[in-house]
Amino acid sequence: MTYHRLRVTDVITETPDAHSLVLTLPPALAAEFTYRPGQYLAARVPHSRGNLVRCYSLSSSPHTDTDLKITVKRVPDGQASNWICDHVRPGDTLDVAPPAGSFTPTSLDDDLLLLAGGSGITPVMAIIKSVLARGRGRLALVYANRDPNSVIFAAELAALGEQHGDRLTVTHWLDSERGAPAPAMLTTLISEHAGREAYVCGPQPFVLVAQHTLQQAGVPPERIWVERFEVDQGTEVGQHAGVGQRAENGRDATLEVELDGQTHRLSWPAGTRLLDVIIAAGLNPPFSCRQGHCGACACRLLGGRVDLVHNEILEEPDFAEGYILACQAVARSDEVSVTYY
Ligand code: FES
Repeated sequence: MTYHRLRVTDVITETPDAHSLVLTLPPALAAEFTYRPGQYLAARVPHSRGNLVRCYSLSSSPHTDTDLKITVKRVPDGQASNWICDHVRPGDTLDVAPPAGSFTPTSLDDDLLLLAGGSGITPVMAIIKSVLARGRGRLALVYANRDPNSVIFAAELAALGEQHGDRLTVTHWLDSERGAPAPAMLTTLISEHAGREAYVCGPQPFVLVAQHTLQQAGVPPERIWVERFEVDQGTEVGQHAGVGQRAENGRDATLEVELDGQTHRLSWPAGTRLLDVIIAAGLNPPFSCRQGHCGACACRLLGGRVDLVHNEILEEPDFAEGYILACQAVARSDEVSVTYY
């Protein structure tokens, strides 16, 4: 996966703990960075033990914005997000890979039900702007936040609501006033839109409640699209539900891995993914989606054989150079050797 160094032309403080970075795209990269509303960028940020790669949803719309914009919220122990919020200033650069992801509407003319929790509004905002600018769809958004100060894009949503009152309804849910969202209460907000395709984005507890509510309201699972923002061992992980693949049986192997300037020899149990083996050994490999579609976990095979359970990012030229996805690799030979260099 190729990273490109883009200039940050603006940093917008959206809330006390959420920043948007505006990235300018050189004309030469325009084709490679063509994107759909709801997609994300993988960003590479420095870390004392090597680079961290994390995925951040684009809040910009390809239909209304000339520059790319990602919105990044601080999370406790979120090493990459906190580094971005603390260090990135206008004029700096950020290494990002071309847009990816499938949390994007099939048609801008469909009526949609949108459920966002906290910074889960980021890809949803891009979808709203695109549908209103280029489609005919009507949108119902339920947007949950801790309190009024944590509402990202409050003014922009209010302005869009005024401009497109017949097509966009926004219902704010504030935990500070109503407590955390519960299915019984959400049901009354969504029931009249249960015939629509639903897009859900937010932290895991919000996503679980929203999914449960939608299913209770009769929305078929195949019409529910989910993007999760999770905090996992100090890292932020954006991932789609429904694209995870069943782990296939592999064979017990011995793994040799070069990472962070050292070579480690590890036992690799059958059926286990390479990434999990490395993390379980206390090492800090790069990863993000864990679903085979971002490429953040790519490393190179030096010896032995592996199978990839799922792959949406690597192509023949990558395989020719030995690249594999650690999050999807199971061992197929007794000895496997990989490097992150
Ligand atoms: Fe995204 Fe492996 S972590 S492809």
